[in-house]
Amino acid sequence: MRQNIIAGNWKMNGNISETKSLLEELLAGKWDHQRCQAVVCPPYTALSTAGKLLHESHIALGAQDMSEHASGAYTGEISTDMLLTVGATYVILGHSERRQYHSETDKLVNTKAKVAFQAGLTPIICVGETLTQREAGQVHEVVEAQINGTLSEFSADLMMKSVIAYEPIWAIGTGKTATPDIAEDVHRFIRQKIAELDADAAETIPILYGGSVKPSNAAELLGQPDIDGALVGGASLKADDFLAIINAV
Ligand code: PGA
Repeated sequence: MRQNIIAGNWKMNGNISETKSLLEELLAGKWDHQRCQAVVCPPYTALSTAGKLLHESHIALGAQDMSEHASGAYTGEISTDMLLTVGATYVILGHSERRQYHSETDKLVNTKAKVAFQAGLTPIICVGETLTQREAGQVHEVVEAQINGTLSEFSADLMMKSVIAYEPIWAIGTGKTATPDIAEDVHRFIRQKIAELDADAAETIPILYGGSVKPSNAAELLGQPDIDGALVGGASLKADDFLAIINAV
C-alpha cells in the first residue's frame, strides 16, 4: 500500500499572519488521516510559526528548497539543520521554478536529495516536461533523463523513502491540467523507470501529480492507479480548496 500525500506548495505567498489563519483553518478540517498525509510548504520566513502550530498535528511541514551545504558562507541559503529545528520533515527539490529561475540541474537536485535524506528529511523530487518538449513528442525521453539524473546513485533505502512529483510545466499555474489519461501515462512510465532501478521502491514510492490541481479535477486525477497524491500550488492557499483536494484522495 502506497502512502497518499497531498502537499501544498505555497511558493512566495503567506506572511506570518496569513500563515497562522490558513493553518488554523486547515487544522480544523476533517479527513481520514490514515488515508492521506497532508503536507504544507510555506515560505522560509513562515516555517518557524508553522512548525509551532503544526507540532504533533496530522499536518506535516515541508520547505520549498534547501542548500546542499551544511553551513558557511552561502548567502541566502538555508540548511537541513535549520529546517529540522523548525520541525520540517519534507523538502521540495528541483521544482521547475527553481530549475527555470535558479538554473538548478538534475545533478544538483540529486546532491540535495542525498543531503536531505542523510538529515532525515523526505525529498519531494519534481520532474516534468515543457510544452515544446511535449509537442515534440519528447515527454518520456525528458522525464526518463530527469528520473535517472535526480535519482542517480540512490541507495535502495533512499529510493524507498523519496517522493516524486510529476509536474508538466505547461500545467503549472496555467489552469491547464493534464487529463487523467495523460498524467497516468507519465506516472506509469516513471514507475516503470524506477522499477528498472529498484523493483521494491517502484511499488512503494508515492508519485504525486502537480499542475493546476483543484477540487473540480482532483478526484479524477487521484483515481488513477499510479497517481498517489498531488503537489498543489494555487489551490493550496485556500483552506476549503486544499481540504477538498485532501478529501478527494
Ligand atoms: P499550481 O502549482 O497548482 O498552481 O499549478 C503546482 C506547483 O507548482 O507545484
